[in-house]
Formats: sequence, structure tokens, C-alpha cells
Amino acid sequence: MSKRLYIKTYGCQMNVYDSTRMADLLAPLGYRLVTASDEADLVILNTCHIREKAAEKVYSELGRLRVLKTARAETGGRMVVAVGGCVAQAEGAEILRRAPHVDIVFGPQTYHRLPDLVARVLLVPAAVAAKGLLDTEFPAETKFDLLPETASPQGVAAILSVQEGCDKFCSFCVVPYTRGAEYSRPAGDVLREARDLVAAGAREITLLGQNVNAYHGAAAGNKSAREWGLGRLIQALAEIPGLDRLRYTTSHPGDVDDALVAAHRDVPQLMPFLHLPVQSGSDRVLAAMNRKHTADAYRRLIERFRTARADMAFSSDFIVGHPDESEVDFAATLRLVGDIGFAQAFSFKYSPRPGTPAAQASQVAEELKAARLAVLQEMLATQQRRFNDSCRGRILPVLFDRPGRHSGQLIGRSPYLQSVHVEAPDGHLGTLVPVRILAAGQNSVAGTLEMRADAVEASA
Ligand code: 5AD
Ligand code: SF4
Repeated sequence: MSKRLYIKTYGCQMNVYDSTRMADLLAPLGYRLVTASDEADLVILNTCHIREKAAEKVYSELGRLRVLKTARAETGGRMVVAVGGCVAQAEGAEILRRAPHVDIVFGPQTYHRLPDLVARVLLVPAAVAAKGLLDTEFPAETKFDLLPETASPQGVAAILSVQEGCDKFCSFCVVPYTRGAEYSRPAGDVLREARDLVAAGAREITLLGQNVNAYHGAAAGNKSAREWGLGRLIQALAEIPGLDRLRYTTSHPGDVDDALVAAHRDVPQLMPFLHLPVQSGSDRVLAAMNRKHTADAYRRLIERFRTARADMAFSSDFIVGHPDESEVDFAATLRLVGDIGFAQAFSFKYSPRPGTPAAQASQVAEELKAARLAVLQEMLATQQRRFNDSCRGRILPVLFDRPGRHSGQLIGRSPYLQSVHVEAPDGHLGTLVPVRILAAGQNSVAGTLEMRADAVEASA
């Protein structure tokens, strides 16, 4: 009999990918995805711990689920509640203590055991008060070897996890603690999964990793050959017929090598857009953050990409108010932003994460953080607007991946990840079509289908 599975995903793309794989794992047990928690037999919260109030958000959602679970029990039914992801890893047994109605707590590296954990919960009758199961170890086996070989189809733009974990230990970041040490999947496994996704309709794949450009997977074909870096992997993926676009995220400036820069020069399928977090423009703060690069090294890196491919555009992450950040440090961040000119960016107030080194240092006042963030965000918004404006008049290839708000309208992505709104027939969904950009907004652009066959710019 079919059972209903609801997964609520918080946080990054990696969690989105993990959620799709959890659904793949549970399908053989008869679970199919539904879109609301109230009707589900199994609810999974796939949580994120990267910034503030993450745990509180999870506990308040768990409070809501307790009401649903009790109501279900009163009508003789049963709802199983599981908490996974990075809050589960960080909080562990504390979740079972604070929310005793939770049946399973599992980590990002143990979700391949979900079918077993769910089966164990269901063995005990609901009426018997059983203690929840906890599985947040970092097992010796890697989950990737134990996930179903074929990933579910994801549509025209797919994500594929190639690397996980992080060894960098930036002062502010929980990832090395919640996701564990760096691990790269063998290139052959990545190629197989990519071919499956393309066979199921994907035309664009984004390679995911917490530190994706530290990728160093076993070589495809010849196991005794040297490991492949990300640049080599991208070259091999570009040979898959029908795979028109490749992207990767998220990268660390310290792990960019010549092969990756060369891939941007040599592989037309690799999109000319790079998310490369810098966090700060001050060398003093970068050192305190343990980022292991300077602001000028970042500037030089951007120049290398621009030399490899003239139409590259950049995105970044920034943290303001890291412990000890002065006005002079913050001014250096604004200078860096001015020098680079970002197409878009994310910026955050520093949020102390329990167990990380920066959480123990002396903190910047909340009002200062807020004031700096407002200034930075205004500058970044202006740059984004300017970049969108600069696309007017250009003809860009757009991959249509969803219907627009009005009938007769489709939305797709430009090479620069901009949302592009176009009047277009439904038949264009899932296709890559040249679009002349006519209008630019803050977060998206709009254009018309370009009919001339030779229309796409050579550079895009
Ligand atoms: N506080 C604020 N922002 C953070 N990030 C990571 N940890 C923290 C933190 N403790 C931001 C970084 C990172 C992005 C994913 O989240 O900018 O690149
Ligand atoms: Fe966190 Fe990224 Fe630094 Fe790793 S490189 S510790 S994931 S911010």
C-alpha cells in the first residue's frame, strides 16, 4: 500500500539534493512524496544550521507536528516524525529530549540508513511509548555507495552532489562539524548519475559540494590513474550528448587550480558565471576567519577567470560583523566590492555558531552589524541592477524551466542564473532558446524570443 512522505527542506542545495535521495531510498518501502505535512505518514525535516535561529525554527515546526501527530493517533492512524540534516547532527539527543514525539534523529552522513530506521520504528506499536532512535555518527562506509543507483528524474535543470564535507575550518562555520571531512565521489559514479539525469530529461546539471572545487575523485575508467580534479571532471561531463549546461557550487578561492580556470576557457557548456565566496575584503578579518587568502589574491583570481573567458560574471558571499571587524575592515570590504563588480551576491550578519572558534571571540554590537549590512546590501543591489541593465539588448540563450505567472509566459535561466521572463508557447518548456533581453529589474530580466536562427551571441 502506498504511504505518504513529506520532506521539508531547509538551507542549501546540498540539502535539496539529499532530500531527493531520501525519497529515492524510501520509494521501495512504498513511500511517495506529498506536498503537505498534515496528510503524511512520514514527515522528515531536513534541517540547516548555517545561521541564526536554525534550531529554534526546527523546534517550532516540531511543535506544529506534535499537534498533527496527536490528532492522527486519536483517529487510529500514525505519523512518524524524523529530523535530519545539520541541526540534527549538531543537536543530536537534545532533540529527542526537547521533542519526545520525534521518532528518528539522523545526520547528513547516515541518511542511507533511513529505510532501516523507519522499519525499526514501525516494528514497535504506536501505543507503546518508545524512545526515539538516534543515528548521527560519521560511519566508515560512505552513504553514496549505498544509495539507489538510479536517481529520480529532476527535470530540465538538475543538481548532482559530487563532493561533501569540508576540511577548511573557517572560524565562523559549522559545516566541518556537521558534514564532516571532505569526501569526493569517484568520477565514474558521477558520470553515471549525470548520464541517467540527462536520459531523464536534464539539459543542465549543477555539481554540488560544500567545497566543490576541492573535488579530487578517483579517475573514471582507470582506477590506478591519478585522481581527477574538478576541471577534469567537467571536461568529461561535457562529452555527454544532450548535456548543454554545466555549473558548480560552492567554491573556495584557495582551491581554484589552473585546470578549473582552463575549463572556463575550453568548455563551452560550462556557464560563464561563478559563485566564489570571499566573505570579507579585509586581510586582517580574512586571517581571523582562517580563510587562507588575501583580498588581493581574490582580485587576481577574478582576473584569471576574466582572462580565460571575457564574459564571466561573479557572485559571492559576505559576512559583516565577524568578531573584531572594525570600520576600517568594513571599508576594505566595500572597496573590494567596488573593484570586482558582482552580478549578484549574498550577504549576512555574522551569527555565532556554538562550538566554532569565532563564537568565543569578542562580538561586534548588533546595531553595528545591522548598519554595515544595510550599506553593503545597498551597494550589492546597485551592482546587481547595473549588471541586469547591461544585459539589455543582448541575445542570451535561456533554458525554460517553469511556467510564468500569467498564461502564455515562461520563465527560464540565463547563463548568469538570472530569471528571464518571456512570452512564449508552452512547447518551449524544457528547451534552450535565444532571447533578446529588453527590460531589466532588480532580480530578473525580461525579453522576447529571438527568431533569427543565427541569433545567439558567440560569447554566450
Ligand atoms: N554567520 C553568518 N554567515 C555565515 N555563513 C556561514 N557561517 C556563517 C555564520 N556563522 C555564510 C557564509 C557562507 C554562506 C553559505 O553562509 O557567507 O559562505
Ligand atoms: Fe564553511 Fe565554506 Fe569555510 Fe568550509 S570553506 S568551513 S564550508 S565557509
